Amino acid sequence: MIETIATQPYDDQKPGTSGLRKKVAHFKKPHYAANFVQAIFDAAGSSDGASLVIGGDGRFYNREVILTAIRMAAANGYGRVIVGRDGILSTPAASHLIRKRGASGGIILSASHNPGGPKGDFGIKYNIANGGPAPEAVTEAIFEKTQTISRYRVWTETAPNISHVGETRLGDMVVEVVDPVADYAELMETLFDFGKIRELIASGFTLRFDAMHAVTGPYAREIIENRLGAPAGTVINGEPKEDFGGGHPDPNAVHAAGLIDQLMAPDGPDFGAASDGDGDRNLIVGKGILVTPSDSLAILAANAHLAPGYAKGIVGIARSMPTSQAADRVAKQRGVALYETPTGWKFFGTLLDAGKVTICGEESAGTGSDHVREKDGLWAVLLWLNILAERRESVKAVVEGHWAEFGRTFYQRHDYEEIDARAARGLMESLHDRLASMAGQRFGTLVVSEADDFSYKDPIDGSVATGQGVRIVFSGGSRIVYRLSGTGTKGATLRVYIERYEPDPAKHARQTKEALAELIDTADVIGEIKKRTGRSDPDVIT
Ligand code: G6P
Ligand code: ZN
Repeated sequence: MIETIATQPYDDQKPGTSGLRKKVAHFKKPHYAANFVQAIFDAAGSSDGASLVIGGDGRFYNREVILTAIRMAAANGYGRVIVGRDGILSTPAASHLIRKRGASGGIILSASHNPGGPKGDFGIKYNIANGGPAPEAVTEAIFEKTQTISRYRVWTETAPNISHVGETRLGDMVVEVVDPVADYAELMETLFDFGKIRELIASGFTLRFDAMHAVTGPYAREIIENRLGAPAGTVINGEPKEDFGGGHPDPNAVHAAGLIDQLMAPDGPDFGAASDGDGDRNLIVGKGILVTPSDSLAILAANAHLAPGYAKGIVGIARSMPTSQAADRVAKQRGVALYETPTGWKFFGTLLDAGKVTICGEESAGTGSDHVREKDGLWAVLLWLNILAERRESVKAVVEGHWAEFGRTFYQRHDYEEIDARAARGLMESLHDRLASMAGQRFGTLVVSEADDFSYKDPIDGSVATGQGVRIVFSGGSRIVYRLSGTGTKGATLRVYIERYEPDPAKHARQTKEALAELIDTADVIGEIKKRTGRSDPDVIT
């Protein structure tokens, strides 16, 4: 039976870069999660008999919200929900299921790389029928619904057990529980030459995959150990845990330091990789070399044709604005289009749907392709392995060879976390105020050639996004970008992105910190970071 429950709006349910993210305690406020789910259903349009995919990264509170969402879907007219067993679906696997099953959309419960557990973060994100994150028009509509909500609908009976694969019913709706890994693993087999990768591994190539106690554990075990024949133990931290084992499931130099240390040891493995809470980010490390996400995007784009799924070549590349311009040079040399979009995977959706690009990537450790509409951590790992299996060279040789051919972009992102929100806004406003007078100004040896606040007009649907980050470009092409993160849950996070192009191979072996030293100092001078935030050093450098 359908029950209608009276509720009141919360004024803070505006989705950010990637859905609604708050502390677990915040989500546990009365009707908080239910309000947002109902707003999604109200904004999504007709659900009559439609299918809906539901799954999450297994973090604390995942199961409760999934069971509520199932009961609400039944009360809102959905014909079928497709749920990962135990409520588990990695973000890319959910995207694939939505597409494969022709669902009208999906609800993904995750706060990505943010910590989990009772004191950690939780999140709800809606993906549309193409499998990708809802575009801004939809997230705006959802937000509007949250502002006026007065009731939500829920099926009175409890939801069926989601721990066993199979079909049951809740009212008129079918509840289909699926193996979270099977469809995804099958898709990967269509894109990559598993036989070749298996041969590489059998020949003595050693690897390590750190699942960070998050959602990719079961996926990586099935694909890397079972299907590709890597020895048991190749996947480390492979048991998903509600609090990610107390860790911070963000595959970067700080939180995956243990893995990186192993790869820096002379007797360490040949290849290391990690993924985040919900399986869409990736970290790639070779013996003795950490690959930056921006370089990884450029290298994958330049070599994708070596994998069967991309043998015909790529049609275009898209990157988020703060991502380095390394991929631009690949696009230019290959004669394919390059699109520069705002931060957030949702901006790639229209380009992928229109067949304008094959590969997309972001500096925030995301790479993916037109196989789904999300970034995909394991996909990036498998594409790297496929390329290494074909080229039979080390990661280091592939990266250095790429720099020699295309030039190197030295790149760093500096994050200042949990700074005072008002100070952060003041810093950005001050930059805006000075933009018009910036061109021509000299800082040491650097001369500003252009300065603007990035706006983007989607070439497919014409939608416009403004205020996407302040760009200071210097003659010679070096860049400093300032933006405030849209994914944090506490205070504000200032991100400063710094890059410099170096065409001369004799200078490629320099330390990034040294190569960027003048730009790093200039970033503080122009941004007045120390003065306005009181911080003299970033919390995280990626
Ligand atoms: C998530 C999004 C990405 C985005 C990243 C950083 O992972 O899916 O598209 O690049 O967050 O976003 P932020 O707004 O925190 O810089
Ligand atoms: Zn993620």
